[in-house]
Amino acid sequence: MAGADHTLLDVVGLTVDFTTQEGIVHAVQDVSFSVAPGELVGLVGESGCGKSVTASAILGLTRMLSNAAVSGSIVFQGRNLLALPEKEVRPVRGRDIAMIFQDPVTSLNPVLSIERLMTEGLELHLGMSHREAVTRSVELLQLVGIPKAEQRIHDYPHQFSGGMRQRVMIAIALSCDPKLLLADEPTTALDVTIQAQILRLMKRLSEDAGAAIITITHDLGVVAGMCRRILVMYAGRLVEVGPAKPLFAHPHHPYTVGLLRSVPRLDEPRTERLQSIEGLPPDLSHLPPGCAFAPRCWLASEECWAAAPELLATTDGRLSACFHSEALLAEVPA
Ligand SMILES: Nc1ncnc2c1ncn2[C@@H]1O[C@H](COP(=O)(O)OP(=O)(O)OP(=O)(O)O)[C@@H](O)[C@H]1O
Ligand SMILES: [Mg+2]
Repeated sequence: MAGADHTLLDVVGLTVDFTTQEGIVHAVQDVSFSVAPGELVGLVGESGCGKSVTASAILGLTRMLSNAAVSGSIVFQGRNLLALPEKEVRPVRGRDIAMIFQDPVTSLNPVLSIERLMTEGLELHLGMSHREAVTRSVELLQLVGIPKAEQRIHDYPHQFSGGMRQRVMIAIALSCDPKLLLADEPTTALDVTIQAQILRLMKRLSEDAGAAIITITHDLGVVAGMCRRILVMYAGRLVEVGPAKPLFAHPHHPYTVGLLRSVPRLDEPRTERLQSIEGLPPDLSHLPPGCAFAPRCWLASEECWAAAPELLATTDGRLSACFHSEALLAEVPA
């Protein structure tokens, strides 16, 4: 992990609770991690574990939700965004921190042309004239691989295929040269070949511009080739954090083991069927007192039912929130 002066983003004890008719939904609980400039980080976990809410909080969008209670701190370039007034966060959003939203179909406003969608941020955040913004937009569209960009810039989102729309989203997100890009399921809606292209593109653009990317996905295959460091989230908490290669080769948390078993391995022929993790994640408004994964865990023992394990360093320097991490660590990897 980067030292304090090299940290771009430092999230400490982030907690997001939603008040709903069913009770309080503990969407994100005591999540801490940091991201270095230019670092490629993957945030993974099953549906509903709090990935998008974490990203929304970083972007300062949870502050717009009247039913959300947010605590902890989100220090970006030395300033705690959670403590800043909205007028100081607004210029950061879209300029220094950009987001590719989970749903490319609904997140590009269908009544605005690509020209409008692209030039808006450039004019607002970078003070460009409309003409300058159009020139830059065409360059950006070319950069992300949109053919005939000078003409296509006049089109509307529905005139683009899913893959092309996603490229437009990436172009918009990167237009103001963000220091941090939050890419929420950037390729889920796309077919596998396009997925690989988009991921390569994001990686290349990050290298060229020095932007850090947090790629959010439930699909470990998406982050395996792209990210250096992986954050594994379960039921609103981080349960394992470590460098991608060793983490995938030898997970120290049983949940990560389960997630990996449910991903097809491309590097070796598989004889056995893929298994999904048995059971369902807990209801975030009625969390059990102990480890939230215990009801689905083959290693669960008495202590796991009594108290939730903290995210602690394992003897080989990874972070894992499991009383049985050392036992898993001692096992020979499969
Ligand atoms: N505005 C809201 N009000 C109440 N509950 C919410 C709100 N937004 C999210 N939640 C709840 O917070 C929890 C975490 O949701 P989140 O969208 O972060 O999951 P996710 O990990 O991104 O899942 P997916 O992979 O399906 O996108 C879920 O239980 C969700 O229902
Ligand atoms: Mg999500």
